[in-house]
Amino acid sequence: MGFRIKTFEEYQQAYQKSVTQPELFWAEIAENFTWKKKWDKVLESDFRKANTKWFSGAQLNITENCIDRYLENQGHKPAIIWEPNNPEEQHREITYKELHHKVSQVGNMLKNNGVKKGDRICIYMPMVPELAISVLACARVGAIHSVVFGGFSAQSIADRIQDAQCELVITADGGFRGTKEVPLKNVIDDALVQCPSVRRVIVLTRSQTPVSMLKGRDVWWEDELKKVESMGNSECPAEPMDAEDELFILYTSGSTGKPKGVVHTCGGYMVYTGYTFANVFQYEPSEVFFCTADIGWITGHSYLVYGALLQGATTLMFEGVPTWPDAGRFWEIVDKHQVNILYTAPTAIRSLMAYGNEPLKGKDLSSLTKLGSVGEPINEEAWNWFSEKIGKGRCPIVDTWWQTETGGIMISPLAGITPTKPSYATLPLPGIQPCLVDENGKEIEGNGVSGNLCIKFPWPGIIRTTYGDHERCRTTYFSTYDNKYFTGDGCLRDEQGYYRITGRVDDVINVSGHRIGTAEVENAINMHADVIESAVVGYPHDIKGQGIYAYVILGTSLHDHELTRKDILQTVTRIIGAIAKPDKIQFVSGLPKTRSGKIMRRILRKVAEGEMDSLGDTSTLLDPSVVDEIKAGAL
Ligand code: WT7
Repeated sequence: MGFRIKTFEEYQQAYQKSVTQPELFWAEIAENFTWKKKWDKVLESDFRKANTKWFSGAQLNITENCIDRYLENQGHKPAIIWEPNNPEEQHREITYKELHHKVSQVGNMLKNNGVKKGDRICIYMPMVPELAISVLACARVGAIHSVVFGGFSAQSIADRIQDAQCELVITADGGFRGTKEVPLKNVIDDALVQCPSVRRVIVLTRSQTPVSMLKGRDVWWEDELKKVESMGNSECPAEPMDAEDELFILYTSGSTGKPKGVVHTCGGYMVYTGYTFANVFQYEPSEVFFCTADIGWITGHSYLVYGALLQGATTLMFEGVPTWPDAGRFWEIVDKHQVNILYTAPTAIRSLMAYGNEPLKGKDLSSLTKLGSVGEPINEEAWNWFSEKIGKGRCPIVDTWWQTETGGIMISPLAGITPTKPSYATLPLPGIQPCLVDENGKEIEGNGVSGNLCIKFPWPGIIRTTYGDHERCRTTYFSTYDNKYFTGDGCLRDEQGYYRITGRVDDVINVSGHRIGTAEVENAINMHADVIESAVVGYPHDIKGQGIYAYVILGTSLHDHELTRKDILQTVTRIIGAIAKPDKIQFVSGLPKTRSGKIMRRILRKVAEGEMDSLGDTSTLLDPSVVDEIKAGAL
């Protein structure tokens, strides 16, 4: 059975085989990659202990699979096309051969700066090719990358650097996003006040933003590169990595506490992202793949960088935002670079849809062959607009459901192969065994049912641990339901067996496709001096999918409410980042609590959703009268 599925019958056969003979199935898939040494055992797994190993005993380096193996036959093919924020600036194209050279140089630059296999490196950069190159250079020398999205605050970076004990940071003076100039190095400087583990900061010049370079700690990327060049040797041998050696850490929010460092390892992640990229997008050798996600999120890791390069694709990377200089920017990029596959998020689709047809005028979208959506449920209206206005009714849409923890796409159509249905992620990929469970953990069989989405069997891209705290990984994902991985999502399975993800069932809000923990936002709000207590819930938002609604109890303060509201937003921006700013803040004198002191979020959610008349039973509340006040003051 081949690597690449070409018909629905082949999908069904592959699926069948992946369930009946999973080890054989994945071993055959893995044969399509370059290994320095083959595995002794395909799979060892114990969900009850949150332990899974794939391809143990094998050795590889993912960058040899992403780059070196394509040098001979397609060395001159563009690996990366980079489109700058400002359309007037020159775009860049980097061939596989050039990418090999650059990744080797940066790999040597890291080694010159004392980096060894297993070291953790924090990357905080704008969407420029050097970000992808840095990620790959870490993988080349066996360092573990921890990319932090450029929108996170100094405090968030410090938390992540401390958790992983990073020794080195790669950043830039600043970055451009729309009309904004983001002072990345300054933010890093604020973060590093709390991070004694960091002994070196490498700073790329991008925006010419003034920065302060600390003697003995901070060095310029360009200077370090010159040193590498003057050494004459441009080779950087790919470090042999065990299949289960850590490849990267990526932090993500959950329902409790601080973000967790999701760990992915070399072998399984490579096999899974390569396989899913090829099959979901049905990638053809000359196609240009445009993933609009930032590399700071898992989508950027798995498909913009690794999955695409593993299949020898041309991947397009865009520095800017969809609405600047105008709402036609994506369509202009598609036209200019003759993009074939566009992979984006429902929130982007909805926001561009709101601008109407004008931004589409004069844009040639005929190069598009396939469209993809990821990050949150896509509503039918957005799905149809994407299909008709962008795909002109001839491009299949793949609604891909997955998570940071799953490493790659789990439930999705195969483009042009699986019959689609708006707002449905459709069927599990080969190797994925989803199931729905009720509150008691009992599996719900049959079709036309809904429940909590779990996965019954390991796949190569599964989370291996949460960095530095394996027990947290076990309790978060493997203890809610016995012997199953719990996704945190609610889901329905229709009469035909198609899956539709309905949203989170835990205290996680999905804002514009980004996961934000309510507890995290509450902690940030509570840092404000005037705040006594707060409760945060999600509510439906036309563009963002979900918005953040905060109920806040204030102490006595001389400030007026409007000022305090702004101060709270400023506080959240400082503690987490602008992405976590509440859309609405309602000041209340009390919160609905049970006699044991637990906040009844169900009621707060209903009020935030505007469903005042269906609050359910409020008789168990300590003080039912607060509900009336909250209802009366609802925003
Ligand atoms: C959560 C994971 C995986 C890439 C980006 C987000 C939601 C993701 C879909 C989809 C409905 C989706 C889920 C999931 N989600 N894709 N196609 N349809 N919901 O990664 O930050 O790890 O968030 O995003 O709720 O649990 P993430």
